[in-house]
Amino acid sequence: IDTEVVVLGAGPAGLVLANLLGAAGIGCVVLERQSRRWVENRSRAGFLAPDAVAVLRTHGLAAGLDSRGHDHDVCEFRGVDGGFELCYGKRGSGRPHTVHPQQELVTDLIAEFLRGGGAVHFETTAEFIGDLDTERPWVMARTADGRVRRVTGRYLAGCDGGRGVSAAAVPARTAVRDHGITWLALLVQAPPSSPNVLYGVHPDGFAGQMPRTPDITRYYLQCDPSDTVEDWDDARVWAALRRRLHADRHGPLVEGPIVERGLVRLRSEIRDRLRHGRLLLAGDAATAISPSAAKGANLAILGAELLAHALSDALRGGDLSGLGQYCADYTPMIERAQEFSHWMIDLLHPPAADDPHADYHRVLRRARLRDLVVSRAHQDFFSDNYVGL
Ligand code: APR
Repeated sequence: IDTEVVVLGAGPAGLVLANLLGAAGIGCVVLERQSRRWVENRSRAGFLAPDAVAVLRTHGLAAGLDSRGHDHDVCEFRGVDGGFELCYGKRGSGRPHTVHPQQELVTDLIAEFLRGGGAVHFETTAEFIGDLDTERPWVMARTADGRVRRVTGRYLAGCDGGRGVSAAAVPARTAVRDHGITWLALLVQAPPSSPNVLYGVHPDGFAGQMPRTPDITRYYLQCDPSDTVEDWDDARVWAALRRRLHADRHGPLVEGPIVERGLVRLRSEIRDRLRHGRLLLAGDAATAISPSAAKGANLAILGAELLAHALSDALRGGDLSGLGQYCADYTPMIERAQEFSHWMIDLLHPPAADDPHADYHRVLRRARLRDLVVSRAHQDFFSDNYVGL
């Protein structure tokens, strides 16, 4: 196969990029390791920031989101000293989130790309990439039946996540932080217990509730990093959720069958380079970010739009300066999102058991939460960062 841009990975980053390139008349193919069914059913985040929604709307990719998504502008903190609602839609720049499950967005983006004549090669794993500093970089990819195909482009877009081949091919200094925190991620077949996102701030650990659809709700429970999903049977899950979300004070949770459970380790990685020759990284391949502020999919969508512009300029206008500009524009966005995600980690989690300054950190956390209740400036800071990038 010979094309203009080879996109590695069919997540939000790769698919937004492919759609934008396709609409600009630039030839591209997408290589995806998993099957179409797998990527269309992989349940992940669901909170889209207004800037990400604007990208999708501007490029005609928001039909599903506009018909099935819901706006959210209030989140609720529940602590031992009481709870409070923060109406972030009325603070800061006053903008809401849109809740639209990521797998539905991915499904819409695949359909739209195929409708425009694009090609996605599912069950095709990129194994090696090379000739990145020539005008004809290539990917060697293995298909499900074991055949190896060489796919050549003028540029490669690395949208294959943090463990793909692209990130590994960009020599970069990487700042890594393992936060030492693990979440049990649960999908429950039941309506949400509250229409708002709930953050349970409890000495036992964090608990969260994120509405997804009218009959599917996401819950998170901080667990011991050595736990396995088998350690958490239904009875233990619901008891912990009730306790940490203070159901005695705020009313019962709407319980239902737990249809999916997995473990999420909170990790962050920030690279000092997003480009090597004609390979450019976007989304999780560019930065791994903890899910504490739901920034991953939003960074992926915004990065894809920046990259689409840079590649269009390079391929159509012969202007290569946009490629360097892409890295210069994307990096501060990544750094801001990382900083706020880390701020959220400190807010939501009790200090680790072996933290020698645990008492001190508990006081800081209490002060931070109190500021969100009493200080307009802190509410504005939170709101702008919560929905912005
Ligand atoms: N060859 C082909 N495809 C690959 C390879 C490979 N070697 N390695 C990984 N992939 C595919 C994965 O199967 C996956 O579908 O790349 C895709 C990457 O998609 P995502 O992980 O969704 O990453 P991205 O598009 O950057 O989206 C970022 O959204 O919800 C968040 O947590 C999610 O932060 C992540 C995000």
